[in-house]
Formats: sequence, C-alpha cells, structure tokens
Amino acid sequence: MSSTEDRYATPRLLAAYLEAEWSDFLWPDPGRGEPQRTTGRPEFYKKIPKLLFDSLGGEQPGRYCDIGGATGRTTYEMFHEFPSLTELVLAEPSAQFCLWAKRLLLGRVLEEGLYDWAPRVGDLHRPGFQRVESFPPVLQESGQKKIYVYEARAGEVPRPPGYFDIMTCLNVVDRVPDPADFAKAVGDLLRPGGTLVFASPMEYEEATTPRKELWVRDLKDLFPPDKWEVLNEVDRDYEARPYKRKRIIYATQVLILRKQGSGD
Ligand SMILES: C[S@@+](CC[C@H](N)C(=O)[O-])C[C@H]1O[C@@H](n2cnc3c(N)ncnc32)[C@H](O)[C@@H]1O
Repeated sequence: MSSTEDRYATPRLLAAYLEAEWSDFLWPDPGRGEPQRTTGRPEFYKKIPKLLFDSLGGEQPGRYCDIGGATGRTTYEMFHEFPSLTELVLAEPSAQFCLWAKRLLLGRVLEEGLYDWAPRVGDLHRPGFQRVESFPPVLQESGQKKIYVYEARAGEVPRPPGYFDIMTCLNVVDRVPDPADFAKAVGDLLRPGGTLVFASPMEYEEATTPRKELWVRDLKDLFPPDKWEVLNEVDRDYEARPYKRKRIIYATQVLILRKQGSGD
C-alpha cells in the first residue's frame, strides 16, 4: 500500500466516508446524539450521475467503472440513473472501503455482526461508533447485470483497455503520486467515444497533496484536446466532516470528457 492509501484504512476516515456517502441510510434520524445535522450529505453523489445523463443525449451505456469509488455511493446512484448498465465496476485500493462497499451495495457479508456497528464521525483523535439503523436496499444483480468491487488502483482494474462506455473518477487525482500517469491509466480503460466524469477540489490542501508541485490547478491540463473533448465543465460542492467540530465544503471542478475516436 502506498502512503496515500494507508490513510484510508483508519476508522476516522472510514467514519467520514460512511457519513458523507451513506448517512441518509445508516442513520436516517439526523438529530440523535449529534450536534450537527447530517442530512443532505450525499448530494454530490446524486448530482454527478444526473450531470452525466444530461451530457449523453439519450445514449444507453452498458459498461461503467468508478475509479477510487470509496464505499460505493457513486456506483449506487449510477445503478439507478442508468438502467441500461449491464456491468458496474468499482475499483478502490482500500480493503476496508471495499468491504463496506460490498455490504452496502450487494448485502455481502464477510462475517455476521461485523457491520452492526459502524465507525461514526467523532472527536479529533477517535471516531465514535454507532449501531447501524438501516442499510440501503441492495442492488439487484441478474444474469445480464453484474456488479464487481475490486481492491485495485486505476492501473490495476482487471479489464482490457477501451472496455468501458462510461467512467467516473471523483476526488482522487489530488491524492496520487503522479497525476498525469493516473489520468492516463483512467483514460486507457475508456473506449473511444466513451465519456468520463473527472472531478477534484479546486483548492490546494496540504493534508491531501503534501507535495505542492503535484497539484493540478486545472484538470483540463491532464486531458489534451487532440484526445479529449470537454462536453461540460461545472463547479459542484462536495461536503465532508472529518470530526464533529469540523465541516469542510470543497468547491470541486467537474469535467465531463468525451474520448476522441470512433473505436473502429
Ligand atoms: C477523497 S477519496 C474520494 C472517494 C470518492 N470518489 C468520492 O468522491 O467521495 C479518494 C479515494 O481514492 C482512492 N485512491 C487513492 N489512490 C488511488 C489510485 N491510485 N487509484 C484508485 N483509487 C485511489 C482512495 O482509497 C479513496 O477511496
């Protein structure tokens, strides 16, 4: 594991992601024991599939991949926004996140009882733990529709180049050691003519990108115009709470990009 992925194995970060992605299901009553409301937090994950839908002009994609998908909320929303999808792949290097993604998306359990209590956003140095109140309805797989969760980085997704029709990669590029190499690994998985949603916070933050020279000020710099067409570019807020007394709203640059070429 690289140092960036190590960070995601901590209960404190798992707590922050479970809250940001799933608090509406896990703890639907926002008031209980909490000084701040937690409703409305997964809004970012709901907006991205709608933006993509609006850019596709009626296309019916079949194969989808989310890179750095954490505990799976984007995959969950994509499943519902695009009924035509036959394959949904979540690639995420943190083993803990994958475990929870499998439970939350598919109802798969490693061990009975393991998920009854979840890390909950707590004090600065220690997350709280809270009994899970309810789980989201599991996504229904069928012969034609499959969901895969892989413990993998962008360059390790077990599919051939040019495989996916649509992809998302949200708030990951600011944390990797080589942003250009990472963007290429993501783009290689998409078919020519396919569409990628690529997003990242606008503002440099030392805690997430310790080497300032790795900071990408404008995501378009990673996607040369001879290979990529920008279909849409918008700002969307992304909200997280690392501990009870700190709430961060990131202004995020969101690009919707079409990979040039017909694939013939
Ligand atoms: C800030 S989180 C974003 C999670 C989610 N996409 C979102 O928008 O909420 C960054 C995620 O990227 C994952 N990650 C880090 N390096 C990665 C890599 N090389 N390839 C794929 N995912 C990576 C981390 O494990 C973490 O889950």
